[in-house]
Amino acid sequence: MPAISQKGQNMPSSPIRKLVPFAEKAYKANKTVFHLNIGQPDIKSPQLAMDAVANHNLEILAYTRSEGSEPYRAKIADYYKRNHIMVEADNIIVTTGGSEALLFAMGSVADTGDEIIIPEPFYANYNGFATASGVNIVPVISKIEDNFALPPIQEFEKLITPKTKAILICNPGNPTGYLYSKEEIKILAEIVKKHDLFLIADEVYREFTYDNLKHYSILEEEGLDQNAIIIDSVSKRYSMCGARIGCIVSKNKEVMSAAMKFAQARLSPPTFAQIASEAALNTPQSYFDEVIVEYKERRDTLIEKLEEIPGVQVGHPKGAFYCIAQLPIKNSDAFAQWLLEEFDVDGETIMVAPAAGFYSSPGVGLNQIRIAYVLNKESLIKAVNILKKALEVYKD
Ligand SMILES: Cc1ncc(COP(=O)(O)O)c(C=O)c1O
Repeated sequence: MPAISQKGQNMPSSPIRKLVPFAEKAYKANKTVFHLNIGQPDIKSPQLAMDAVANHNLEILAYTRSEGSEPYRAKIADYYKRNHIMVEADNIIVTTGGSEALLFAMGSVADTGDEIIIPEPFYANYNGFATASGVNIVPVISKIEDNFALPPIQEFEKLITPKTKAILICNPGNPTGYLYSKEEIKILAEIVKKHDLFLIADEVYREFTYDNLKHYSILEEEGLDQNAIIIDSVSKRYSMCGARIGCIVSKNKEVMSAAMKFAQARLSPPTFAQIASEAALNTPQSYFDEVIVEYKERRDTLIEKLEEIPGVQVGHPKGAFYCIAQLPIKNSDAFAQWLLEEFDVDGETIMVAPAAGFYSSPGVGLNQIRIAYVLNKESLIKAVNILKKALEVYKD
């Protein structure tokens, strides 16, 4: 039989999706499963985005330009200016989700065997994009005890080698919910300028900040134009994960022309989804105000209930809609599987994401899970109650 590539064998399977067969078993056993494992929001997509697709007047569903449709890119630039990010359409390439923007970014800044430093825990699919791009991720540990704040500058500097090409952050963070302060962004800016590195910021959760804290983008930071690359997406912003639209943003012309070659190779981002995403940019601020109130209430409920469980330690999210919880168990992989296969409270159980897959350091995060608070408050309260009862009886 022909052999699979080493790269294919090395591709990590998603820690979030690998429990799906066990969830299917739970459904077959007629259990209700509360999904705390995946960041699919239950918030409605803006009606005007749906209407724009329903009322289209296209006669041919043609390709758009590789960099995305012109009117859409112009409107994205306006959106950024409203958010104090002074970019023009030329600084933007529309991609098939933030996922493709990450691939373009890694492909544009790093060669096979090069290194990108990422504070961990990090969005698990960075492992997959790095493997696909031949890039080695070098983790710098951020700790639950520090609420996952930026690790000290010396920790980064210890890891920088001639192969280091970039530092990648997720702000606000998935899976930690951590929001980097302006001061922390300034520290990162100093490091990348000193060592001539790129700073890639995955800002797909930009709008989701709580407690009146404001997001500070790397492209708001002066003097960083040649180093900064933003990864963005409509998936979470407008609850439009299925649109598959994102973008890569940089003022560095060489980065953009390299990214453009990747964009040309895959011809164009999806046409209907750009129509929906362009219309979504007219979403009134009131939509976000309501969504943020909803997520903040969910966060408060979730954290309060989790902290009532003996032995549970929780990172306090300031943004996005995830948190990491440390549990009084040894192995959250086995625990998550047991929850689906063997446990229920009156026919109900929960699905969680074991956190080890969000770390690349071996053996770290084994007793942690990531919880996405994308369920309504009543369901969240039920779900945490199930977790509490499960921990009372679980033995590992
Ligand atoms: C931090 C982060 N970056 C990027 C993505 C990719 O999003 P998409 O490809 O749907 O735009 C996600 C999706 O969950 C994410 O959480």
